[in-house]
Amino acid sequence: MAAATTHISGISEQDESQFCRADFGAEFKWGVATAAYQIEGAVNTDGRGDCIWDTFAKRKGKIKLGQNATEACDFYHRYESDLQLVKELGFKQFRFSISWSRILPQGTGTVNEAGILFYNNLINKCLELGIEPWITLYHWDLPQALENRGGWMNRDIVSWFSEYTAVCAKAFGDRVRCWIVLNEPMAVAGLGYTTGLHAPGKKGIWNFLPVMHHLALCQAESGRILRAEVTNAYIGTAVSCSYVYPNSSSAADVRAAKRADALMNRLFVEPALGLGYPVDAFPFLAKVKRYMQPGDLEKLRFDFDFIGLQNYFSVVVKHSYLAPVLWLKEVPAILRNVPVTSMGWEIDPDGMFKILKQFAAYPGVRDIIVSENGAAFEDIRREDKVDDPDRTVYFQQYLKAILRARKEGIKVKGYFAWTLMDNFEWAEGYLARFGLVFVDFKTQQRIVKSSGRWFSRFLKS
Ligand code: FCB
Repeated sequence: MAAATTHISGISEQDESQFCRADFGAEFKWGVATAAYQIEGAVNTDGRGDCIWDTFAKRKGKIKLGQNATEACDFYHRYESDLQLVKELGFKQFRFSISWSRILPQGTGTVNEAGILFYNNLINKCLELGIEPWITLYHWDLPQALENRGGWMNRDIVSWFSEYTAVCAKAFGDRVRCWIVLNEPMAVAGLGYTTGLHAPGKKGIWNFLPVMHHLALCQAESGRILRAEVTNAYIGTAVSCSYVYPNSSSAADVRAAKRADALMNRLFVEPALGLGYPVDAFPFLAKVKRYMQPGDLEKLRFDFDFIGLQNYFSVVVKHSYLAPVLWLKEVPAILRNVPVTSMGWEIDPDGMFKILKQFAAYPGVRDIIVSENGAAFEDIRREDKVDDPDRTVYFQQYLKAILRARKEGIKVKGYFAWTLMDNFEWAEGYLARFGLVFVDFKTQQRIVKSSGRWFSRFLKS
């Protein structure tokens, strides 16, 4: 696609003078975010059990070009030099996820000491380099053994996830203070079990409600376990969010936007805040009752120290009679002639500002951490250089929106760029590159992109 700089308006790549790191305050946390399955590789190494993505990637047509994450970025063997890179770029926080099946190959029961050792080494290396480790407990890679028992459809997952949380808290809680329980539970329920675009590839609208409910129960229960086990813990959960605009001011489109907002933005934060599911805007959700047990509303509550917001794009929706249950459809960004990334995601920094405001308006939300934000573009490598001005501009615009929110008193306390390096982008395989660092997947060579160099200059400003 055409270089986005031609249609991203506002600031240019050189325009660093308008804002600097110091504007965010000395306490603001700057990090890069990653996920185990996307970078580690070594899927058959040191006793790791299979996860649902290993199985899914073997199914025909599920991952673009039939790619898989058997090797990915080989982070399992290269974590020391990759962490060195994090340090050189100037980030002081590193977000990574734990592969559940590396720790508990069968999902429950026997602990794989080699898995614990890997994460201990990784954590210790972070600390040695002056980088604060942030653990995500669940970034989509359910042990296959648990999927065989029903996975997120089975309410027993609350006890499986509790066991896993406790193992991690005991093993790592002496050195790790910052914990993110779930990564984007909406993607698990929506893409994993409803549309089937992600692992485990289950399809059907009736899967949605039990999966949603079990995720929300796990989110709170795991928070309680971390609170009890980890001294001084800073506990959050990370939700995807997109500001939703109605396509017109018609009552039908406005209601459609409210339904989309309930699903995309309210679904997992409101139960944690004790508000239940957002049935007011989306009555279908009331059918979750059949999966609820007495006392569940209370069990869904947990007083998180922070909510992780992951915002990449905004959406425009309109009413549609052709889409049963949702009764809406998205008006794709490419049809609206707005700036987009190579994923077709609308670039809308103002949407970031609006969604921060929306979450900050909940009285129960304490801190907000932007736990992911970033963009894929079609990077071109010229010898040992990758110039990606579009990505730099994307970061600049979104950071300015966050700064604006801070200046308005919104308690956004940190920012994690997605992501350190190009990696296995789920169903997109290796085609979508989001990294500040380019990876040559044939040689595992790393090349810091110009956006990475911009970010490190910015972090010194
Ligand atoms: C988020 C995921 C992350 C990555 C980015 C591009 O939804 O949490 O793993 O895929 O999108």
